[in-house]
Amino acid sequence: MKRMTILLLLMSVGAAAQQPGHYEGVASCVNSGCHGSTQPLNTTRILQNEYYTWLNSDRHAQAYNILFNDRSARIARNMRLKGKAYQEHVCLDCHTTNIPPSLVSGKVDLEDGIQCEACHGPASGWRAEHTAAGWTHEQSVAAGMADLRSLPTRASVCLSCHLGNDKKEVDHELIASGHPILAFELDNYTETMPPHWRRGKENDTHGARAFAVGQSAAFSQSLDNLAHHARGEKWPEFSDMSCINCHHSLESSGWRQERGWPGRAGLPSWSPQHWAVLRLLVGRANPSARAQLDNDVQLIATRVARMNEPNAVLQAAVDAKRIIDSVTPQIATLSWRDDDVRALMRTIAGDTDFLLTSDVHSAEQTALALQSLASALTRNNPRLLKSPMTAAIDALFEEIKSRERYEPARFVQKLTALRGTL
Ligand code: HEC
Ligand code: HEC
Ligand code: HEC
Ligand code: HEC
Repeated sequence: MKRMTILLLLMSVGAAAQQPGHYEGVASCVNSGCHGSTQPLNTTRILQNEYYTWLNSDRHAQAYNILFNDRSARIARNMRLKGKAYQEHVCLDCHTTNIPPSLVSGKVDLEDGIQCEACHGPASGWRAEHTAAGWTHEQSVAAGMADLRSLPTRASVCLSCHLGNDKKEVDHELIASGHPILAFELDNYTETMPPHWRRGKENDTHGARAFAVGQSAAFSQSLDNLAHHARGEKWPEFSDMSCINCHHSLESSGWRQERGWPGRAGLPSWSPQHWAVLRLLVGRANPSARAQLDNDVQLIATRVARMNEPNAVLQAAVDAKRIIDSVTPQIATLSWRDDDVRALMRTIAGDTDFLLTSDVHSAEQTALALQSLASALTRNNPRLLKSPMTAAIDALFEEIKSRERYEPARFVQKLTALRGTL
């Protein structure tokens, strides 16, 4: 009887340690036979030096440390936070792996910053198992690993911090307090991370497809955020709008009055940044959804501008989200041969009427999109790196370097020059 109890006890301890959904900490990944080699190895499918790549050159490893700098202190002061930035959930939730103790089964230190499990998911269900011969990626995913090969999943992991969601967000209060504006495009940002994965020549989870799925995921998430603002007490939320509507000099700039306003003159407008490039992808994947979404987006824009109709905004945001989510699978299966990539680049570079009446954030998404598509071409043809096309894309980034000095007409001029090189 006694032995039986001990056995049961042991079994339940064993079961608790392996219960999926618990975080084990970065130290559990770094054995030299696992992800802690100092050099990339050729013995398995993976590089095995992931830990040192992350530790030495990935900004995510440092994301907690910056909460100790002067800028963070000023943000915390302006927000009237009770504690220091490095003690407050509102900062920790995006700048480190901030897990409630009940979900920690190893050693998760705030100092470790955004470690493996912040992106790959809690490891308790698969860490020990996934090194066994014959164990598959799918088995790990079933045991709680985030499937980063699935683009919608990867997008939602990155966007949770790089765009925000209903639990954590860089809203106008954070920005006014001193936080940088967030910009994100899935493919560019994935490729800007120091890669700790092997880059295949033909790889469906990187490149144009990642860009396309990332665009619809970001729009969908931004509509969620808009709906969340409209439901809650943060209405109107200025970060839903184009910053330059309110932040510009009092002297007339000429181009705004030239451009005019979609509704009453002088009202701030909703920022179309997440719809700007996606429109063109939806137009390819499903033209009738494009027409419906153009209509919904129009409703969102006028209702956001009036500032006193949160319920109507909520309605339009929910409608638009339903449509874009239903089109995403079609966007995910668009074809991306070099010809398709070039054709889309030409369409984007010819989208000048839209950009002339839009904002710098939409121009940013346009430049990021073109950059991402151009890299899809250069991957197959490295000589393009020294071509007029590449120089013309660099010129676009030059135009958006200063958000304050941005002028649509100049950007469009550079865009037209790029079109000539395609
Ligand atoms: C929704 C997620 C999110 C929240 C909440 C958040 N941040 Fe950030 N923060 C980011 C991201 C993402 C970046 C990087 C921006 C980039 O480079 O694209 C960043 C950048 C910064 C930077 C500039 C970093 C640098 O290297 O110059 C500072 C400082 C900062 N955050 C402090 C804070 C503080 C303090 C708080 C809490 C009041 C906070 N953040 C809350 C996501 C967040
Ligand atoms: C900021 C998010 C992020 C962090 C932090 C991160 N990874 Fe990754 N990891 C990725 C992405 C994105 C991929 C690429 C997935 C793909 O190619 O489909 C990847 C790929 C990998 C792969 C290759 C998987 C495969 O099937 O080829 C391994 C192994 C890996 N990561 C291990 C680690 C380890 C170990 C750490 C911590 C030291 C870590 N990662 C930290 C995002 C992250
Ligand atoms: C837990 C929140 C979180 C997650 C998840 C996350 N990031 Fe980040 N990311 C940050 C923060 C915070 C920073 C800024 C760190 C700093 O400046 O020190 C950052 C910085 C970056 C940078 C450097 C930006 C620059 O201006 O140099 C890139 C690139 C990046 N992230 C890509 C990604 C990608 C791709 C994913 C998904 C695979 C991802 N991140 C997932 C929070 C996150
Ligand atoms: C509807 C008008 C409106 C919109 C849109 C708006 N803001 Fe503001 N912003 C204000 C007001 C009002 C203040 C507080 C007054 C002040 O001190 O300038 C402010 C303050 C600020 C501040 C702090 C003041 C300063 O001089 O540094 C920053 C930074 C800022 N906003 C950035 C942004 C960014 C970035 C966006 C777009 C994401 C944005 N704002 C959108 C109205 C707006």
